[in-house]
Amino acid sequence: MLKVDCVEKSYKKGGLFSREKQKILKNVSFECRRGECLGIIGESGSGKSTLGRLILGIEKPDRGTVLFEGKNIQDRKVRVGNISAVFQDYISSINPFFTVEEAIMEPLKGQKEIQSKIDHLLNQVGLDPSYRKKYPHELSGGEAQRVCIARAISTEPKCILLDEATSSLDVSVQTQVLDLLKKLKKSYNMSYIFITHDIQAAAYICDRVIFFRNGQIEEIVKTEHLKDVQSEYARKLLQMIITF
Ligand SMILES: Nc1ncnc2c1ncn2[C@@H]1O[C@H](COP(=O)(O)OP(=O)(O)O)[C@@H](O)[C@H]1O
Ligand SMILES: [Mg+2]
Repeated sequence: MLKVDCVEKSYKKGGLFSREKQKILKNVSFECRRGECLGIIGESGSGKSTLGRLILGIEKPDRGTVLFEGKNIQDRKVRVGNISAVFQDYISSINPFFTVEEAIMEPLKGQKEIQSKIDHLLNQVGLDPSYRKKYPHELSGGEAQRVCIARAISTEPKCILLDEATSSLDVSVQTQVLDLLKKLKKSYNMSYIFITHDIQAAAYICDRVIFFRNGQIEEIVKTEHLKDVQSEYARKLLQMIITF
């Protein structure tokens, strides 16, 4: 369904006038199937968010392509309504002057029966209809992230990209949000690209996991075979959870 094919990306290193370039993504290729949750695990600075922006089509690769059902994601028509995103900084993801209902309504502009749809979406993410009139600063982290998830599913996309979406939530809230994501994925038959530095969260929700390091794929494994990973980097990450 989503195919990342030989993608490369460099950024200018240093100041505005610098000519030196730093390669952030090096020949990255993988596929995500319909209904699959694919994890991308890597340490901070490894290029995960850059890859995420290319997958969302909001930035252009220097080389290679990102295809959604065979069509280039760079084409706005291909991505609108098909792929959405949830980011880490849930509070700033919502316009501070928007109420919860305005935030959720935003992607639905022009559609019919928006009011009943908002109630349905709030219900889907486990928020009471009384949240409609609240502002972002009145929400807890977990509640704000639920609003972002409601907005992301509002167009019934086939794929959601989650970039560190649960990373800054408390552990207990994190589990609740991961359980919510699992439930929604099933009922909407969506795919997730689950970007994280947290191998535990990835192991909890993902079907397959990509170990990503220095802008490259080190290894791709099915979650049930996580224990059998080969690369040294992946083994090191895994040891961290085993020792806890
Ligand atoms: N727009 C940009 N311009 C220049 N450098 C960037 C830009 N975005 C990211 N980088 C650099 O790319 C590298 C990878 O960043 P990022 O994709 O955010 O990694 P991760 O999400 O894995 O932490 C970092 O060294 C970062 O400084
Ligand atoms: Mg990042």
